[in-house]
Amino acid sequence: MAKVKTGFVLWFTGLSGSGKTTLSLEVERRLKKMGIPHVQRLDGDVVRKELTKDLGFSKEDRDENIRRVGFVAKLLSDNGIPTLCAFISPYKDVRHEVRQRCSNFVEIFVYCPLEILIERDPKGLYKKALSGEIKGFTGIDDPYEPPENPEITIDTSVESIDDGTEKIIFYITEKKLIEA
Ligand SMILES: Nc1ncnc2c1ncn2[C@@H]1O[C@H](COP(=O)(O)OP(=O)(O)OP(=O)(O)O)[C@@H](O)[C@H]1O
Ligand SMILES: [Mg+2]
Repeated sequence: MAKVKTGFVLWFTGLSGSGKTTLSLEVERRLKKMGIPHVQRLDGDVVRKELTKDLGFSKEDRDENIRRVGFVAKLLSDNGIPTLCAFISPYKDVRHEVRQRCSNFVEIFVYCPLEILIERDPKGLYKKALSGEIKGFTGIDDPYEPPENPEITIDTSVESIDDGTEKIIFYITEKKLIEA
């Protein structure tokens, strides 16, 4: 049975469709299988319908979205809960702010080349953004500032879901955030 040594935040950032939700679900599944009972996921799609449904997609609102999530992630992780946050979180300053607030913040850059994201398009959003039906879509006509020094980078066009998950579990084990 694995044990959590200290609370931590796994922060998944990357373009829509890069694999943030997929990887965070898989890491959650792995942690539970290892015998860690309490794991909390915070996911953009859910959070925006509940905690931040008043916010839109301007830079100010995107930053505020991330600030609120960062606040919740801090509360949870300070109480020893592994907290997995999957948000596009395109702006590096506010990601840095959250990093400063949370102990044991692990930034995971979920990368995938745009051509492949456009092919994947699991939610049909790239099609809409490219045709102009949606405006201000990150990666198409809104900025994404990639992390400069992420703890982990996963290129999901090359690394399988299992490879990516394994890389994250290896990192948190090696950093002694969990004990095998
Ligand atoms: N190696 C891989 N790792 C992760 N996802 C992959 C990989 N290969 C293919 N995929 C697929 O890519 C898609 C990623 O979608 P997912 O919803 O996880 O993206 P997201 O980053 O959460 O996007 P959004 O920001 O819109 O919520 C899924 O359909 C997943 O099955
Ligand atoms: Mg997602």
